[in-house]
Amino acid sequence: MNQLSSSKATALNGTITVPGDKSISHRSLIMGAVSVGESLVSGLLEGEDVLGTADALKALGADIYKDDENIWHIHGVGIGGLREPSAPLDMGNSGTGVRLLMGLVATHPITVKFYGDESLSSRPMKRVTDPLSQFGATFNGNEKGTLPITVSGAEMPLAITYELPVASAQVKSAVMLAGLNTAGTTTVIEKIPTRDHSERIFKYFGVPTEQEGDQIKVSGHAELKAKNMAVPADPSSASFLIVAALITPESDITIKNVGINPARTGLFATLIEMGGDITFENKREECGEDVADIHVKYSQLSGVTVPENRAPSMIDEYPILCVAAANASGETVMRGLGELRVKESDRISVMVTGLKACGVSVIEHEDGMTVSKSNIQGGAIVKTHLDHRIAMSFLMLGLNSEKPITVDDGSVIETSFPGFVDLLNKAGANLCRV
Ligand code: S3P
Repeated sequence: MNQLSSSKATALNGTITVPGDKSISHRSLIMGAVSVGESLVSGLLEGEDVLGTADALKALGADIYKDDENIWHIHGVGIGGLREPSAPLDMGNSGTGVRLLMGLVATHPITVKFYGDESLSSRPMKRVTDPLSQFGATFNGNEKGTLPITVSGAEMPLAITYELPVASAQVKSAVMLAGLNTAGTTTVIEKIPTRDHSERIFKYFGVPTEQEGDQIKVSGHAELKAKNMAVPADPSSASFLIVAALITPESDITIKNVGINPARTGLFATLIEMGGDITFENKREECGEDVADIHVKYSQLSGVTVPENRAPSMIDEYPILCVAAANASGETVMRGLGELRVKESDRISVMVTGLKACGVSVIEHEDGMTVSKSNIQGGAIVKTHLDHRIAMSFLMLGLNSEKPITVDDGSVIETSFPGFVDLLNKAGANLCRV
């Protein structure tokens, strides 16, 4: 079907650009859609997840299109201006898309039905419907609290103060977005910091947003003025290239214009502690986000124990860290990762099963895994369970395995990293469609 396989590579070289940041792309479209006037977005990730959010926002009344120069134009409807879509919204594989949009519509007097693919339909939504109910929205779905769910937005939303029970930027952002069309101040209390792209983009679009200690306060009913955005390359996507270069002898690559927001760079810190030769060049700020070019050379890696409090800043990067760990001397201990079990797949269980099938020595914990240096046999067909990061991680493991590694379904990579196979092969990898 859509199998992809990866075999031993000699070296990765060159200057590479990876697609735009997924988190910032979703947020750029959403903020443009509720601003007044035209926002232009360059560098938007054109993966299925983000295109799904663009389609949903169009169905909610925004005018969104791409021009011949790949610039996205968004004509927003203004806060409070969303209209009821004529059909249910298909959010595909995207947890970020559905959770953020549920927040946005929860304080508009419209009814919207959301659904998604098999992976998204098994993910917990109560974590957003609980706080959004407190604004006055109502939700109709099943007892498990999973999609499909129909949201009836509040007519007269009430501002809330909400302490996050899980370290989740998606939940934080859903509450903040609901606060946009709510009179008064909506407060989110976040004891464990998570990615702050929403805080940054709210300020960039002129929403009065204050951070006091662990509290984020958003003033409702501000008039958002259209703004232009340049989306940096996604550090989570860059991570696959970075680990590939670190484990493939004689590699030397530079990845241009990558987001290095400190709330996202836990993997880079970990890889540097493991002995990775990674340097940040040309550091700068663009549209409220930190950006740099990242220079990586092949390195001898040693295992580490990853501090548990680093998890939110690298939550999407544990699958690819497992690949680095299988190539690092000693053992790498990853704990405090309960959230990994409710991502696009149960990433602890799926990684452990796939690593074992490829001959990697790994121990599963309830909240993580310990991976040891291994003679990576490969030769397996790994099940990806509709999880893009699982697919890309195992293809990177194949760059340094005895026999090729195959993933059962590579099509899911399109959700976040369109052009992955060609880009990797141009840099020197050996990926092929089976
Ligand atoms: C995201 C937050 C994270 C991350 C996801 C994107 C975001 O999810 O895993 O890929 O854009 O806010 P959680 O908030 O569920 O941790």
